Amino acid sequence: MILEVELPTTNYQLPTTNYQSDMIKDLIKKNRSYRRFDNSFSIPLDTLRELIDFARLSPSGANLQPLKFIISNSPGTNAEIYPCLAWAGYLKDWDGPIEKERPSAYVIILGDKNIKNEFSCDCGIAAQSILLGSAEKGLGGCMIGSIQKNKLADVLNIDPQYEIQLVIALGKPVETVQIEEMKLADNIKYWRDEKNIHHVPKRSLDSIILK
Ligand SMILES: Cc1cc2nc3c(=O)[nH]c(=O)nc-3n(C[C@H](O)[C@H](O)[C@H](O)COP(=O)(O)O)c2cc1C
Repeated sequence: MILEVELPTTNYQLPTTNYQSDMIKDLIKKNRSYRRFDNSFSIPLDTLRELIDFARLSPSGANLQPLKFIISNSPGTNAEIYPCLAWAGYLKDWDGPIEKERPSAYVIILGDKNIKNEFSCDCGIAAQSILLGSAEKGLGGCMIGSIQKNKLADVLNIDPQYEIQLVIALGKPVETVQIEEMKLADNIKYWRDEKNIHHVPKRSLDSIILK
């Protein structure tokens, strides 16, 4: 299959704001880290394969494409993956989602050491493509980097050729996540209010653009 991209015409004017640029901004804002889901909602394998196709079509350094993926959407395997992961380190009084709010699916991103030894940039891009695609479908998820890797490799019987990079938890979110401007410098910790709304402080635009 050949994928063609339409190029702008020569007299193309950069829009200040238009429907499409709002769509991207809205999607990026909607694509928060969600950690509580409706576990009764299952995600079909075809949907998960389509999300991994978004990762496949994403940029890769030197076009080496060293990432491989494992999908889980079965309650049995999901239950084995869950204890290998650590949730929301800043929320000290929360032990992670209760059973009925656990993810419906997981995507495990692996680096193929036969191709390359460093995967972090490719992995981040792939993970973001998967999560943006999920957000567009009304799903949500969370990248999990805090993984008991040996335990997870055992559970999934992963060949040593593949290094576990990241787990993406996916599901239909049942929580509200709000972005807020960071008021105190370096006050980076997300927090939950009395209504269980999850707040995520973001640095201001002016503070991160150096020049
Ligand atoms: C590389 C990476 C690793 C992460 N690992 C974890 C993790 O182990 N557990 C977790 O609950 N969240 C994890 N997160 C989610 C971050 O906590 C989250 O992105 C951050 O709080 C900002 O929230 P936002 O994604 O809604 O903007 C990770 C995010 C990234 C990008």
